[in-house]
Amino acid sequence: MSSLNRRRALSLGAALGLASVAGTAPAWAWSSTGSIAGTGTGADPWWVWDDEVDRLLAKLLEAGEVPAVNTAMESWVNNSDQLPSDLPSDLATYLQQVNRLPSWADRDKLRRAADFNRRKDTYLFMLYGLGSGIMSTVIPREARSVYWSAGGADMKDRAAKTFTFGYDLSDLNAFEPSGQFVVTANKTRLVHAAVRHLLPQSTRWTAVADEPKHIPISNGDILITFHSLGTFVHKKLIEWHVPMSAEDEEAFLHMWQVAIHLLGVREEFIPKTWADARAQSEQVLTPLLAPTTEGKRLAEDLLGLTAELDLGVTRGFLNEFVRYVLSDEIGDWLELRRDYAAAATIRTGWPAYIAFREGLLPVAPAGFYMFDQFVRAIAMLFLNNGTSPTTTPITIPTGNRPG
Ligand code: HEM
Repeated sequence: MSSLNRRRALSLGAALGLASVAGTAPAWAWSSTGSIAGTGTGADPWWVWDDEVDRLLAKLLEAGEVPAVNTAMESWVNNSDQLPSDLPSDLATYLQQVNRLPSWADRDKLRRAADFNRRKDTYLFMLYGLGSGIMSTVIPREARSVYWSAGGADMKDRAAKTFTFGYDLSDLNAFEPSGQFVVTANKTRLVHAAVRHLLPQSTRWTAVADEPKHIPISNGDILITFHSLGTFVHKKLIEWHVPMSAEDEEAFLHMWQVAIHLLGVREEFIPKTWADARAQSEQVLTPLLAPTTEGKRLAEDLLGLTAELDLGVTRGFLNEFVRYVLSDEIGDWLELRRDYAAAATIRTGWPAYIAFREGLLPVAPAGFYMFDQFVRAIAMLFLNNGTSPTTTPITIPTGNRPG
């Protein structure tokens, strides 16, 4: 079945309430010749997890040692920090091996990516926040995992932790010794390993999981999320005619290649070029998008939290911006109330706003200041780490969604 047909079938299935259809992974057909490894072992990323750390976290959770690990990790922040001395020895030995850049990381490219993130930050805030963030709610496996895990019950806290990841990744020193991303990525890897042990114990999650015995957050699932972030943002920047040099584009991809490696994705699955990434995304992200009950609630939580801020625009405008960035089909899935006047303003005003910002228009277009205030409010949301004055540390959960 072609991607389009499959997507239609899934959309129809979801529309008909066939919840079990939503999120079923298509057979893996992407060739590893397009990966940074250049070749594959024949492994299927839907069935590849992170064995060593998964075993460690299962043991720590069973032994009730995770709260102590979270306390020990509080002082472990910068890439150059020593590992905390009071970590369990097997966890410390494991982290010694993985808490570093891979041999293939190119520091010049990573520095260039950091500079690119700084130069294009306003677009990136908008795209990650209102694009990728909301798209995550129509990726069925992710939406259900997030909803039924501990963090799903407190989206404000969870969003703040996710901002910590994005903030550390986008920082000028992200991968330098004084930066924090390598540590943050490793903490996230531990969180994911804990979730793989915890979620299968949730009867509420297993009742809705597309494959009840499937352990969540496989390498394939992480790749899907990468496409909803990096690949999606890259595509939108091109669509929006945001000027980028070939070096910038390559550097931005390299940053994501290193990031997903640090999250435990094997090199044989990590796309080598943007063309390879797009091909993979077309196979594994696009056909899987579908609404779920959990995703709709998460989207409402996220947009509700955003709308609490003074954005200078109405909730209808916010809804329409999400529709503009993601599509009306997704907007309809999430039942985002229409505001046709706002939609028309965005359709003409946003491209003009970008053109003026990029020096391609001599005078500020109508609506410039409204867009500018909106963009600044979204940027502040990100830079203030949600609404918290300090970054919210990432901690390992010890249970699932309460209640
Ligand atoms: C936790 C990032 C892929 C499900 C986290 C956290 C971060 C993060 C920063 C820690 C924040 C927190 O605890 O709330 C990422 C990135 C991904 C990715 C960058 C890929 C590029 C996935 C996928 C799934 C998933 C594919 C599920 C299919 C979860 C869940 C939690 C979590 C359930 C824990 C929430 C909680 O109980 O607190 N992720 N993630 N993630 N992630 Fe991911």
